[in-house]
Amino acid sequence: VEKKPPQTFVGAIDQGTSSSRFMVFNEKGAIVTMHQMEFEQIYPKAGWCEHDPDVIMGSVNECIAKVADKLEAMGHSVTDIKAVGITNQRETTVVWDKTTGKPLHHAVVWLDGRTKDTVAQLVEKSSSKTTSHWHDRCGLPFSTYFSGVKLRWLLDNVEEVRKAHQEGRLAFGTVDSWLIYNLTGGINGGKHVSDVTNASRTMFMNIQTLQWDDEILEFFDVKKEVLPEIVSSAEVYGNIVGGPLAGIPIAGCLGDQQAAVVGQRCFNPGEVKNTYGTGCFMLFNTGEKPVISTHGLLTTVGYKLGKDAPAVYALEGSVAIAGAAIKWLRDNLKMIKEAPEINELAAKVEDTGGVYFVPAFSGLFAPHWRDDARGCIVGLTQFATREHIARATLEAICFQSKEVLDAMNADAGHDLALLKVDGGMTNSELGMQIQADLLGIEVVRPAMRETTALGAALAAGLTVGIWKDLKDFSAHETPDVFKPTIEAEERSTRYANWKKAVERSLGWV
Ligand code: G3P
Repeated sequence: VEKKPPQTFVGAIDQGTSSSRFMVFNEKGAIVTMHQMEFEQIYPKAGWCEHDPDVIMGSVNECIAKVADKLEAMGHSVTDIKAVGITNQRETTVVWDKTTGKPLHHAVVWLDGRTKDTVAQLVEKSSSKTTSHWHDRCGLPFSTYFSGVKLRWLLDNVEEVRKAHQEGRLAFGTVDSWLIYNLTGGINGGKHVSDVTNASRTMFMNIQTLQWDDEILEFFDVKKEVLPEIVSSAEVYGNIVGGPLAGIPIAGCLGDQQAAVVGQRCFNPGEVKNTYGTGCFMLFNTGEKPVISTHGLLTTVGYKLGKDAPAVYALEGSVAIAGAAIKWLRDNLKMIKEAPEINELAAKVEDTGGVYFVPAFSGLFAPHWRDDARGCIVGLTQFATREHIARATLEAICFQSKEVLDAMNADAGHDLALLKVDGGMTNSELGMQIQADLLGIEVVRPAMRETTALGAALAAGLTVGIWKDLKDFSAHETPDVFKPTIEAEERSTRYANWKKAVERSLGWV
């Protein structure tokens, strides 16, 4: 292979719920090469979901090794990569032993519902006896979703974890912490840190001070020394030890939904993006002050691009099951072989034939926050076919996004005019048209849809000086715009039916 002249590249590790990826971007923000692999989901019981932290790490290392080979085959050198950014599935909770560096349990995944009783106990323990007890302080209600609640469950139910906590050997982290710890050397000096966007998903962080909150920790009965140090989203956390990227600094880190905010360049208050991954997450930039929702949204840190940079906040509407519903049709019902086939099926019918599918597999998140909900398919007749169910699945993802957008409009006090979208399902023309139809506003899809990985790369590149100011970093290609094509009356009838279907799913467990 002909050797190419030296380049300036940035790498991004994107460790998601269903797959891990490593991508390399050039100075213009275009993808040079990438590798992606799905990894094992462990479902020990109904409603539970775990990952093996070693498998997560192994998948990341394999993606890095594959990309290093691809770069060499293209005539590039791995040393063209000047910095690496990390973006990750958020809230998924890893516990390990500081003395061995080994996990003490499988990671409890963000959509795992095992902590339902823990949530009830925490509500009971609080003086207000409400799920919103710490909402003003940490931006989040008590929910099975957040990592602090998952850590409480591990302490209550896993003897090894309880013992390590007592003996001062326990380390807790979300996936960003686990990756950075291992990549920077593990027990041999690995850094135990978490970026502020990930830390804002634990319930332990004070949303104003951006520090761990002593009172909340006392309430949860968790020792501060098990927690990582909170760091900004753009600074050098350490250099990679070992492997093809040895010596390269890890210089940026954001939870995946916040990374998409950066990748979509939603840098101005009022800008909104919606990412369709395993779940679906809409984030609304509210500027440098946290805003507490009165309509079921979360307050979260959007990004803090530098140690001394201000934190920019967001209101978030999280939907637990989006792409995961398509994966369920593929893996559990065997209705399709590959996820994109859902589009061909759904396109064969003009509507869902009156079928509504509420994929409340992990309860319902925003704006309902009901861990007692379970999935249901309603409106079935003998007329219904798998084509109708496929279409109802796409619609379900879009209806859930509509519920979140309604909550955002209510919190903002005005209606949003357009929605920027990204993530896997945005490759579906039909899905995006349904989304525009059901929302009644324009849906804008960027030409470069890998916004999550791009966001992490931008943060890392900013730290090492590849980019000076991300506001100057603009998209070059024109986006696709999907415009609503149905009448308001039809939209509201279908939405009213969806709401009735949601009612059926509530209170099931
Ligand atoms: O909060 C969970 C979220 O970070 C997971 O994202 O892309 O794996 O669906 P994703």
